[in-house]
Amino acid sequence: MSDPIGLARGLTNYGDRDFALYLRRSFAKSMGYSQALLTKPVIGIANTASGFNNCHRLVPELVDAVTRGVLAAGALPIAFPTISLGEVFLNPTSLMFRNLMAIDTEEMIRAQPMDAVVLIGGCDKTVPAQLMGAASANVPAIQLVTGPLMTGPWRGERLGACTDCRRFWARFRAGEVSRQQIAEIEGSLATTAGTCAVMGTASTMAAIAEALGMMLPGTAAIPAVHADRLRAAEATGAAAVALARHKLTPDRILTAEAIDNALRVLLAIGGSTNAILHLTAIGGRVGVDVPLDKLNALSAATPVLVDLKPTGPHYMEDLFAAGGIGAVLRELKPLLHLDCLTVTGESLGERLAQSEGAFVDRAVVHSLAEPVQPQGGLVALFGSLAPRGAILKRSAADTRLFERQGRAVVFSSLEDLAARIDDPALEVTPDDFLMLQNAGPTSPSAMPEAGYLPIPAKLARAGVKDMVRISDARMSGTAYGTVVLHVSPDAASGGPLGKARSGDLIRLSVKERRIDLLVDAAELARRPAPAPFAPARGYARLHREQILQADHGCDFAFLRPAPPAG
Ligand code: FES
Repeated sequence: MSDPIGLARGLTNYGDRDFALYLRRSFAKSMGYSQALLTKPVIGIANTASGFNNCHRLVPELVDAVTRGVLAAGALPIAFPTISLGEVFLNPTSLMFRNLMAIDTEEMIRAQPMDAVVLIGGCDKTVPAQLMGAASANVPAIQLVTGPLMTGPWRGERLGACTDCRRFWARFRAGEVSRQQIAEIEGSLATTAGTCAVMGTASTMAAIAEALGMMLPGTAAIPAVHADRLRAAEATGAAAVALARHKLTPDRILTAEAIDNALRVLLAIGGSTNAILHLTAIGGRVGVDVPLDKLNALSAATPVLVDLKPTGPHYMEDLFAAGGIGAVLRELKPLLHLDCLTVTGESLGERLAQSEGAFVDRAVVHSLAEPVQPQGGLVALFGSLAPRGAILKRSAADTRLFERQGRAVVFSSLEDLAARIDDPALEVTPDDFLMLQNAGPTSPSAMPEAGYLPIPAKLARAGVKDMVRISDARMSGTAYGTVVLHVSPDAASGGPLGKARSGDLIRLSVKERRIDLLVDAAELARRPAPAPFAPARGYARLHREQILQADHGCDFAFLRPAPPAG
């Protein structure tokens, strides 16, 4: 007997299958569907529209366009809601809820009768959450993103969230921008629907979804408000129907080789540090490890090709016009596994062959022969401060700070940072290393994007633009600076970072891939570890009990096929 399709899948358990199907069809008919439609394969559409997610403002339009594509291809489209994560609307931080959205997505795909699913995501944590959930549910799935927002003009400049948000805020703190100007800028940074306009986490994850083969070719960079975005949505709906017919499940697409390809793209686009966490977590769902020393090996052999903010001058709309992620993938061809399968059933090599010779604007997407930088944008550091690793986005950092020793100026928490960073009495020089503790995955703040510590106001006013900053927190993909992140194990779980004190010497060597706390072991053993954070109930308790460290992508241990030790 062939497997059931459409509404006959995964019947509600009444102990009588025929009754369950009769009842389901009867209730479905109350929504006005015809008998003919109710016998078709079902394509679920994960609808992540939310009043708390500006980046998903146009999701309802995308659902309509996907619906058109599904109907035209002969299946029944059924949209369903899941959690949506709007980056700036969540407390303490969106990362805390990525795994909750992944659970929601996985369970709703599995529990509801669908032969394939279209995942509509966009804002930073939504795409990784959807890919993690889809990988675990292992029902045919295809990703569609909402697309980046367009830039807007301000006094003759183009502005786009959110590198410009940070650039102007730093200038405001330094006294170079007035209160009146910062109010004008606030209204000019995000003037259309869509995800951040630069190579931040959302854009990086969209590029990764295309590189993994989980998305239609050429769709990662289409601006949210462009008519091509709706055509991409319609085509995605049609592709989902073919995906269902061929029963092409994510485990055949999300292979170790596909994840290598995605790492190459992450490095070549100078992508967000957050993406390494997300890709590690996605890999973990399908049993593929992404060790940080592998990142270093690939980074040494993958040039930066894309010249977007926060490291270059361009925006996502420029990348779209320049040829999109397809142009990057074609350039990287000699470094990629071309036999990887994609959602269309074609291999990556076949997919790229179809766009051979397409236009590329070399000001935005450089060639392998003349890259923006000869090595990848991200590098992992190890040493006595970070035995399980840390991350530095070297493409967004000041190379003059790469080989040095400095005195630590330690902030024990985000509250301590807020209370003292601008204190005129703070003992700090531009050569010191600013260090933030207790902002990692097991801390109460759950690893927020606080690793981009502000330059102390008195130094900012004196013209200091960058300092070495170290923490167990994350950094927005739209930020820049010599910022060492994801120090693992984190301070709150007893890692060495939590034992550092102001005045300790720290040695950073990007060349040697090292970050060391120059304090002897006996002295460190004498210093007390922070009291463990133990929430009493609810999701916070589940999060604290299950959260893995950054080197395992901050997934929950029980969601991985075989939970890793530690
Ligand atoms: Fe949603 Fe930046 S706030 S992508």
